[in-house]
Amino acid sequence: TLRIVRSVAELRAALSPLRAGRIGFVPTMGALHEGHLSLLRAAGAENDTVVLSIFVNPTQFTQATDLEMYPRTEQDDVALAAGAGAHLVFAPSVDEMYPTGFATTVSVDAAITETLEGAVRGRAHFDGVATVVAKLLLAVLPDRAYFGAKDAQQVVVVRRMVADLGIPVEIIQRPTSREDDGLARSSRNTRLSPEEREIATAVPRALRAAQDAFATGIRDAAALTGAVHDALDVAGLTPEYIALVDPDSLEPVASVARPALLAVAVPVGSVRLIDNVFLTPG
Ligand code: PAJ
Repeated sequence: TLRIVRSVAELRAALSPLRAGRIGFVPTMGALHEGHLSLLRAAGAENDTVVLSIFVNPTQFTQATDLEMYPRTEQDDVALAAGAGAHLVFAPSVDEMYPTGFATTVSVDAAITETLEGAVRGRAHFDGVATVVAKLLLAVLPDRAYFGAKDAQQVVVVRRMVADLGIPVEIIQRPTSREDDGLARSSRNTRLSPEEREIATAVPRALRAAQDAFATGIRDAAALTGAVHDALDVAGLTPEYIALVDPDSLEPVASVARPALLAVAVPVGSVRLIDNVFLTPG
């Protein structure tokens, strides 16, 4: 059965008798969908206890409206989490995570936090992510923590933070879960109108166009990003960025000789869609 705890003290007490076994942890902001559930199932397959956190972290939102509009569906989330094999849900209040007087920020170097999403949303976004993930990992102290490749830059930032602070946890990246038409699952997809939802299918189609070009032997960054740009253009979409980068350093790649990350951010209506694929030379 699934238990919900709201304080770090309750969380520690609940986990203390379970530490002889492996603990897998899936941090989320709730509004759970199949992508989150795939992380929970992976955690269940590899660990004895599965902990889910649900916390809409205010410090990583750089736009007040985005924070206000963020869907909050805790009752549904708990039912879905139970079905996907979670044992414990940590759902703290903002005050539990950031009590009066809170004054510490975990800040990861600009080289990986001021590019891509950090360039658009501001570096405060990844400071907020790094800070809350550090706090969550220290509260749960899991053996393994699971993150989605959809937010590939987030995984880079979390891996760096965990290595630099010496937090003893294995960070596991899982593949992006997609709808049947290819759209990457996201809590924000519910804010797309039916027309926008249809137009949004151009995003995975554009990444697919680049993968197809890659498969025919094209390695040049300008040609690969150009294929993405053209496919988005056909759908009337203007990307915020199309970037071909090293998956570890996030530095731009001119030609793909080693595995590279092709990442895009595309506004559709009032929603920013992000997506990416890995290009791996054979
Ligand atoms: P959230 O957006 O709720 O995502 C929680 C986890 O689910 C992240 O690791 C994210 O990459 C993963 N995820 C989202 N959509 C996915 C998909 N379609 N396929 C696979 N995985 C997917 O990311 C956050 O929350 C927050 O920044 C958090 C890490 C919880 C810190 O506040």
